[in-house]
Amino acid sequence: MKIVCIGAGYVGGPTMAMIAYKCPDIQVVVVDINAARIAAWNSDELPIYEPGLDDVVKAARDRNLFFSTDTHKHVAEGDIIFVSVNTPTKTRGVGAGKAADLTYWEGAARMIASVSTSSKIVVEKSTVPVKTAEAIEKVLRRNCADPNVHFEILSNPEFLAEGTAIEDLEKPDRVLIGGKETESGQQAIQVLKSVYEHWIPAERILCANLWSAELSKLTANAMLAQRISSINSISALCEATGADVQQVARCIGTDSRIGPKFLNASVGFGGSCFQKDILNLVYICETVGLKQVAEYWHSVVHINDYQKQRFVERMIEAMFNTISGKKIAVLGFAFKKDTGDTRETPAIDVCKGLMADNARINIYDPKVTEAQIHNDLSLDKFMWDHPSASGTKSPRQNSVTCFKDAYSACQDAHGLCVLTEWDEFKTLDYERIYASMTKPAFVFDGRNILDHTRLRSLGFVVYALGKPLDPFLQRAYN
Ligand code: NAD
Ligand code: UDX
Repeated sequence: MKIVCIGAGYVGGPTMAMIAYKCPDIQVVVVDINAARIAAWNSDELPIYEPGLDDVVKAARDRNLFFSTDTHKHVAEGDIIFVSVNTPTKTRGVGAGKAADLTYWEGAARMIASVSTSSKIVVEKSTVPVKTAEAIEKVLRRNCADPNVHFEILSNPEFLAEGTAIEDLEKPDRVLIGGKETESGQQAIQVLKSVYEHWIPAERILCANLWSAELSKLTANAMLAQRISSINSISALCEATGADVQQVARCIGTDSRIGPKFLNASVGFGGSCFQKDILNLVYICETVGLKQVAEYWHSVVHINDYQKQRFVERMIEAMFNTISGKKIAVLGFAFKKDTGDTRETPAIDVCKGLMADNARINIYDPKVTEAQIHNDLSLDKFMWDHPSASGTKSPRQNSVTCFKDAYSACQDAHGLCVLTEWDEFKTLDYERIYASMTKPAFVFDGRNILDHTRLRSLGFVVYALGKPLDPFLQRAYN
């Protein structure tokens, strides 16, 4: 059997590496139009940072795992074709700002159809709007010259989270396979199931119809993001009332119906999936006339925007209502720890908010490059996932400086804010940092990972999300 995956990104690369690693009897080829990305997958410096990924790739690469730009050859030879291309939010035209842009998906489908001379199972790995399979099937059927070629479409959405991708792929809560309720649809499900059964117990492989599988992916992300917006909305109420959001989260999380996970209040959720997928859900609801349902889910994104804005406003207010010309250290730029990914990271909106008030920003992140940070701060909303848009206008370059360590970033700063929960930020020498900063020295903990009592004893004025306010800050706000 030969498996081919179109798209060597955050999902295609690790997912296929795990399949190849666990299934030595299957040849797996990952193809991409981005030659630099393919070259990186074939090198010692993989294009993405993900704990454990190097070992899995190295064990399987050149054995039964290959990365190539020869898309046509490999797709023509493949029995199962995974499509794991980007499905960003549309930036123009009908549905702009909400609907999924399926240009890359449709391009991949047309290519599959044009090179196929044998029947194939085509697997939706990308997150797509419900009913995409129907449209893709039409594109495949109408563009393939050979009428004997049969395409069976399956939906196999991916649930991995970045930073824990290898763990998630090795021991997933479940694998979901959606297919048609026809004989050939059910046969195709069994073929894909047999691949996953190389390492995943059969009872963890859920089968569903195509539309349920497609919609389950959007719903899972919407529900996860909704939990974060829910606790983040409560964090604002905690600050107003003297309650502590971490205590509230612990108290409610012990109810087994609620559960303890995904209740960490934060400066806002980021990542390439949550906002994009909720907006897509909102758009689908609107197009089928479910206005109230659309509004309900849209509010999850509104609260997330509010949380980022609220954080910036807290910072400005605390620093005597002016940050103009003040240095502010930003610790962490990635959207979560253990990844170098910055897509939709809350750090972008926070930095832009601070820059709008004329602050000078000193940024340090252990895994994000300076070029990436400058690019991110120069792009308009939703443009990050449209490759032609990168490297456009330069942001006010001299208001942003990137550093190779946290201590240099904090030197002479009026305040520091933690925007990513990197473990190394917990064990920094804050006595040294305090001594190097302008006084009063402020800490704004957007992830609640620092020891606030100790920081206060060192002399810092501390703002911790959703926690009782420092007396110093209360005076500033009142
Ligand atoms: P990505 O941008 O990292 O990778 C997509 C890759 O597809 C790019 O390298 C691009 O060059 C390539 N590509 C686009 N069109 C192509 C074509 N016609 N032929 C060959 N290659 C092509 O995206 P990603 O983060 O891997 O996400 C892919 C999909 O998976 C999206 O739909 C996303 O919503 C979904 N998803 C992502 C995650 C995540 O954690 N990143 C998790 C679950 C699902
Ligand atoms: C998410 C889903 O978890 C995953 O199942 C799906 O396949 C892709 O989208 P990912 O975006 O990689 O994964 O990371 P996730 O751990 O879900 O975190 C997303 C954002 O929410 C991050 O910015 C994170 O910091 C934030 N978050 C998460 C919180 O603010 N609080 C929490 O309690 C959990």
